[in-house]
Amino acid sequence: MHCLVLGGAGFMGSHIVDALVARGHRVRIFDLPNISTLNLKKSIDSVEIRGGDFNNVNDISPALEDIDVVVHLVGTTLPGPSNENPAYDVESNVIGTLNLLKQAVGKGVKKIIFSSSGGTVYGIPRFVPVPETHETNPVCSYGITKLTIEKYLALFHHLYNLDYTVLRLANPYGERQRIDNVQGAVAVFLGKTLLRQPITIWGDGSIARDYFYISDLVQAFMTVIESDPPSRIYNIAGGIARSLNEILSVIREVTGLQPIVRYAPGRRLDVPVNCLDVQLAKNELGWQPEISWEEGIARTWEWFKKSREG
Ligand SMILES: NC(=O)c1ccc[n+]([C@@H]2O[C@H](COP(=O)([O-])OP(=O)(O)OC[C@H]3O[C@@H](n4cnc5c(N)ncnc54)[C@H](O)[C@@H]3O)[C@@H](O)[C@H]2O)c1
Repeated sequence: MHCLVLGGAGFMGSHIVDALVARGHRVRIFDLPNISTLNLKKSIDSVEIRGGDFNNVNDISPALEDIDVVVHLVGTTLPGPSNENPAYDVESNVIGTLNLLKQAVGKGVKKIIFSSSGGTVYGIPRFVPVPETHETNPVCSYGITKLTIEKYLALFHHLYNLDYTVLRLANPYGERQRIDNVQGAVAVFLGKTLLRQPITIWGDGSIARDYFYISDLVQAFMTVIESDPPSRIYNIAGGIARSLNEILSVIREVTGLQPIVRYAPGRRLDVPVNCLDVQLAKNELGWQPEISWEEGIARTWEWFKKSREG
């Protein structure tokens, strides 16, 4: 298949690109001009790279030429900060995606795979693990725009028969994740441990989220790209809630180092526990997370150490 990976130079995108190339697909990457291609080292000679702005229809339209499948990974906002400027969130994610969908129909694209957010579209869970049928009441703009895009995908399928799959992701972690990000506790904690910097934890560290390793995420994308899944929306996650204190303890175990931790008063915006039910993906895609928590953290730690050594 000829695949276009939007945001293909990023954390998830670059791993998906490597896997698509390894499986013999033709790959075109679309990402911001002048973006670092460091993440693409492995596949750079086998892919086509187009620089452009996702929000510029004159950039996006030619990138869709001759494409079978679009993997849509461009995201311009993060959950917390998205509430500071919801108008920007809508303009840069929803409007951009609507232009993409319209162009995709015109160019004869067969299928779109969208990276939605299992951590935000459901809002405050009424129970855990959260299945795909749980009500959706996001408490941040990021979750609202992800959900809006899901609805537009359904509309474009209804109107124009544009095929699509939505993956509602929990928190992937692994090699190439940025340690300076405000998102992704595993990467941030590992990075601070490596740099001997203090880690701030709001609350007592009991807040728990669902983490899963990047190669499991890639496997889920490969499955939905290469098959015709019976459902439209799948949770993709580890299916287990891990507290911030559990992350610290596995880091101690794997690295042999003692992270410097500062506990600060809890924040109202933090939901105490969240994890996703992945039974539907197990039943219908034959997918389940394969990499253990300890193994995933150990692999990520090795990569962080190596990339710091240069
Ligand atoms: N990482 C997570 O924890 C997580 C969880 C759930 C959903 N997601 C979603 O998955 C997607 C990918 O996440 P990631 O962690 O790989 O992010 P990332 O920031 O590593 O990658 C996103 C890529 O999109 C590119 N991009 C951003 N704005 C662009 C624009 N206007 N035009 C062209 N390219 C642009 C960036 O340069 C980057 O390479 C995002 O949509 C994100 O919201 C991520």
